[in-house]
This record gives sequence, structure tokens and C-alpha cells, in this order.
Amino acid sequence: MQIHFNESTQVFHLQGKSFSYIMQVKDGLMLHLYWGRKIPLGHHEALHFLPWEGASFDSAHSRWPLEVPTQEKGFFGQQALRVKNGGGDDVVSLRYKTHRIMDGKKGLPGLPSSYVEKDTDAQTLEIDLEDHVSGLLVTLRYTVFAEYDVLARSMLIQNHSADTVTLLDAQTAVRLPADNYEILHLKGGWARERHAKRFAMPEGNFAIKSRRGASGHENNPFLALVHPETTESMGDVYAMTHVYSGSFSAFVDVGIDRAPYMMMGLCSDVFSWQMQNGDVFQAPETLLCYAPDGLNGLSHRMHAFVRRCICRGYWRDRPRPILLNNWEATYFDFNTEKLLKIAALGAQIGCELFVLDDGWFGKRNSDNCSLGDWVVNEDKLPGGLKALAEKINEMGLKMGLWFEPEMVSPDSDLYRAHPDWCLHVDGRERTQARQQLILDLGRKEVQDHIIESISHVLESAPIGYVKWDMNRNMMEGFSAALPAQRKMESQHRYILGLYRVLETITARFPEVLFESCSGGGGRFDCGILHYMPQTWTSDDTDAAERVKIQYGTSLIYPCSSMGAHVSAVPNHQTGRITPFHTRCNVAMGGNFGFELDLNKLNEEDLQCARNAVAMVKKLRTVMQQGDYYRLQNPFLSDGDAAWQFTDGRTVIVCFYRNQAQPNASPRQVKLQGLEEDAVYVDTAHQMTCTGGALMHIGLPVPYAWKDYDSWVYVFEKQ
Ligand code: GLA
Repeated sequence: MQIHFNESTQVFHLQGKSFSYIMQVKDGLMLHLYWGRKIPLGHHEALHFLPWEGASFDSAHSRWPLEVPTQEKGFFGQQALRVKNGGGDDVVSLRYKTHRIMDGKKGLPGLPSSYVEKDTDAQTLEIDLEDHVSGLLVTLRYTVFAEYDVLARSMLIQNHSADTVTLLDAQTAVRLPADNYEILHLKGGWARERHAKRFAMPEGNFAIKSRRGASGHENNPFLALVHPETTESMGDVYAMTHVYSGSFSAFVDVGIDRAPYMMMGLCSDVFSWQMQNGDVFQAPETLLCYAPDGLNGLSHRMHAFVRRCICRGYWRDRPRPILLNNWEATYFDFNTEKLLKIAALGAQIGCELFVLDDGWFGKRNSDNCSLGDWVVNEDKLPGGLKALAEKINEMGLKMGLWFEPEMVSPDSDLYRAHPDWCLHVDGRERTQARQQLILDLGRKEVQDHIIESISHVLESAPIGYVKWDMNRNMMEGFSAALPAQRKMESQHRYILGLYRVLETITARFPEVLFESCSGGGGRFDCGILHYMPQTWTSDDTDAAERVKIQYGTSLIYPCSSMGAHVSAVPNHQTGRITPFHTRCNVAMGGNFGFELDLNKLNEEDLQCARNAVAMVKKLRTVMQQGDYYRLQNPFLSDGDAAWQFTDGRTVIVCFYRNQAQPNASPRQVKLQGLEEDAVYVDTAHQMTCTGGALMHIGLPVPYAWKDYDSWVYVFEKQ
């Protein structure tokens, strides 16, 4: 049993593989007592907080660790649940009503969530809290998994009052004891997504948010508190992430006693929800992960969980195909002949999938038109997609196709037919970005139109892969179909509509591999990974920049979720020139592919591409499904980076030099997670070492004579 309730002490003790999460009902209040390293059951009550009587400026409530902090009795911190009651006030007094403990885990209606295949794989606790005055009923859900070290939490809100209640905030909150912490999160922008940022926790309120209508390039829905002494291999990590793809906010709110609340949920800047009598609102799920063994420990737990309990379907555990995408090779300037020439060389060097990117439909020869008109352009591709896909298939490659289904170009037949189908505010400018507008996926007729038009294309030709793109954020992000008092529901309704569309299409085409994209990694989150098991990590394919992006992304997202391609130099985003082998060595850190015209490579680079493909085919199971360790952090000092993959037998170490330094001293990279006494052999580099030597002395890395050099070592345990 993973969830225990002690009737006499009214204590709930949730035990994961390495964490405990403890709550207690006291005077009807639901209090949070502990989250951290696993402790034995029972006999810990004496250690928890002593009742504090309060002073005139601070009531007892302001110091009590409420499981759901709300506006009541002088709680002055950030509220996790906020409503506007029928009377106009926002007081919410939640009191314990009842609870249920059950095997398994139910899905959340309309929302992505973590899942188990058998009821014996998890246990779920539901706690009902009630506001006796307003009639609001809140059900907190906690799932503990038998094999995975993550706690899944969510909140269901029901309005049992006679009045209309407006939900203003719904956050998952957890309070940690007063201590020294640092904040870790993933910050970025387009082409520099998910850079790991770590700094001392401020006194006060730290917030990250997206109100873009997507989780966004700028802030990923990930937040962690660590101790200053926490490293990759040791120390406590308390992390949160959202199983949601829309706007979000996350807070670290430090109270007067220096005990921080961590929170994550819907972004109240762009959200409220009207609830009439009897209405129910399901808030998105949040995942909590505690690691006692450093940041690599966090990543191991999250990677395993995301791979098996978030991602689904045919491709979940399968090796991901090596792809060749034409975008940076041709942009919009292609025809059948050009594509086949690129694909043919791809097939010859061992690629498995050819992806036709943007520009195959309508009259789209630049990004100024035709989104929404998903009809093949036969001027470019005579005979249509079927003829092209069959030729690609004859080469032994699967055929993949780019779509941007959530968008509409003002210059499109779809927009001319349905100008009100885009998000907008009547009487105001419809602000364009990349010359496009966003369809209102909150409307059922829009959802159905997308489902049918995309299905029609996928049925028309043998398509084995879809790149599902989304290339702008919401500006006047409101639905014309909603009345004034419900306008603030537009963004969340959009995301629910998107999930319905994705659920339907991915179920209809179960063997198609779906890769999500949003100008690269602008919607890289556990919500989207529930439908599409991989994401195009970034539009930035420059090897030196990509090391940082993949390094940061790997904190919680597994390598099997990251698309990583080799592109041409000078790089199209940075102008930088990096060696071909380094571009390959970086792309091996994710789902490997090419995004260039292989015909333009010299013989040496083409041979390097061939070798990389052969290596990826041999080792991809270890790289995509094995344990991943970050060994050297490119955000520190000289920008050098190293990481390691292992399945227990094979150990792959990748070292990336940033810039060569004159008169540099020899360096070692210390490996992790090996067996001390086992012997490991790298035949290519003629090295035989014990695990202990590799971990404690470290692998000597060569002196670099040029910038952006890199090396890959493959050890086999004897
Ligand atoms: C986005 C994607 C790119 C490419 C283009 C096509 O920017 O991130 O990979 O597909 O759209 O327009």
C-alpha cells in the first residue's frame, strides 16, 4: 500500500519509492506536514509544527501550512484557489469532509494526465473539502505510482451554491519548511529555449508565467527548489511541472516565516471560469517530483515517468526513425524532382523517414498565405501527395508531412469563408504574427473542421509521420462565440478543444508518429507529450547553442521526446560554423535527423553522416530509452558540456568543447552511475577501465585544437 490513513491521528501518509508526502486534518483544516525523503510510517506527529497563537497583525492561519491556501482568516500569502462568490467576496473556507483511497488512476475528463495500465500500478487518494457557507466542494486528487517516483496532483471544483461563482485561480500548492533554497527554472525565447537558470530564492514572491496561450518559449512550466549544496549527483530537489499546454503561472511565495509555497496552475491574467449551480471544473494535473540524489536523480525519475506514464501509443517504446526534413534544405522553393533528389541520398545513407515541411499546400510559396487550405499544390507536386509518398516509400523511406492546423492565413479560402473563426475582439485589429491568425479551437465546428481536413489528407496518401506546428501566440485571444461574462474562458476552452482534436486524430491514425512543434520548442510540455511523444526541440540547430538547449530540456524531458537535427553551416540561426561531426554528436542526444541537402556535403562530411546514422541505429535504444546523466554544465564557466547515456551495459559519453583555449590543462570528465568494480572497454579508443576509475579519476578528454570539437566514447561493460 502506498497511501495510508491513520484514523486516530487523522494523518495521510503517501509513500512513493523515495518520497513521503504527509497531510493531517486538524480542526477541520487540511494541513500539509511534509514532502521529502521517504520516512517510516507512524510516530512522526510529535515532530510537526507547534500551534502558534498569532499576534494581532498575523492570525494563526498565516503560519499554518494549508494544503490549499485560500483567502480566509488572515492567510496573506499567494492563494492557490480563488473564487468570486455570488456575494462578490472571495473568501473560501475549506474544511475536510471525507476521503476515498482507491487502486489505479482515473483520467481527467478532456485533459491530458498521467496514466497507469493496471490498477495495481498506482493508488489514488481523493479528499473532499467543503466550504459550508458557499457550498463550494473541492476534491483534491493524489496518485502515487508503484514503479515511478512522481506524485500526480489535481483539483476538481464543484459549485453547489445557488449562486454563480467565478473561478479566478486554480493552482497546485505545496509548502516546504523554512530553509535555504535556490530556484531552478527553464528560461528562454525563440531559438534559445529552456536555458537552465539557478539563483538564490528571494525573500518575497518569485513568479514565472505564460499568458501566450501556449506554454511558450519564454518560461517552461517547470519550477524547482534545491538547496545551495545540491549538485547533479547529490542533494535535495523539489520539482513541479504541469500536464498542460496553455498559459500557466508558477510561484515561489515566501511567507513571513521564510517557508516557501511552490505553486503551479492556470494563469489568472488570462483565465476565469463561470460556474453555475452544479457546474464542475477540472483543473489540469501537476506532477511533483522529489529527488534526494541531485538533479540527475530528478531527471531519471522524470524521464522514466514521462516516457511511460505521459507518452502513449504505438511509438511510446519504439526506436524513433532517423528523419530527413527538407525545411532548411529548400524552404518553400521545391518541386518533386528536388525533393526526390534529397530523399534519395538520405535513403542511401540509411535515413528512414523523409519529412516534407511547409509549402506543399494551397498557394503557399512564402509564409504569407494558405494556412487552413490543406489541399496539395499540384503545380509543385504533380500527382499529389500520394504519388510523392509512393516514390518516397519505394526508396525505403516513410513519408512525413508538416501541418499547422490551428492557424489560418487571412489570405486563405478558409478565412474568406469563416472570418469569425479566428480568435479576435470585435472592433479591434486582429494582430497578425507571421502573417497569420489563430483559429478558435474552443468552437466545436472549428475542431470538427480541423479533424476532418487533416484526416482527409492523412487518408489520401501513405503518411507515417506528422509534424504538428503552431507558429504564433495569442494576442487578442478571445472567442467571438462566448458572451462577455465568459470571454476569459477563451484560452482554456481553446486548449480543451486542441486536446479533443489531438485525441481524435491520434486515435484515428494510431501508427502515425506525431511530432509537435511551435516555432521549435514553444510548446514543450507534458500536456502535448501525452498526444505526441516527441517535440521539435528548437528552431536553433547550431551545435553550440543546441548543447545548451538540450542540456536544459533534459532536466525533466527525456531524450526520446527531443527532436534533434544536423543542419548546414553557416548555421541559419546564428551564422556559426561548427564541424560536421560535432553537429552529428549533438543531434545524437535526441531523436536524430538531418535538416539539410545532403547533396551539398563534401565526401568527408557525407561519410561522417553515414557513420553517424550507423551509430545511431546501433545505439539509439540506449540513447532514447536509457538513463541519462549530465556530466558537465555548459551554462558554467567555459561552456564545455558532457553527458552520458547508459542501459547498464553500454555506456555512451559525449563531450563537447566550446572554444579552444591556448595552453589549456588536460581535463577529465567524471562518469556516473557505473559499477565500481566492473570493467568497461571502449575498443575504438583502446581504453579499458574500471567503473570506479571512470567515475572518480574521470575520462581524460583530448586537448582541442579547434573550436566546437567533440568526442563520443562507447564503453561496453565486460
Ligand atoms: C516553424 C518550425 C520550422 C518549420 C517552419 C515552417 O518555424 O519550427 O521547423 O517547420 O515553421 O514554416
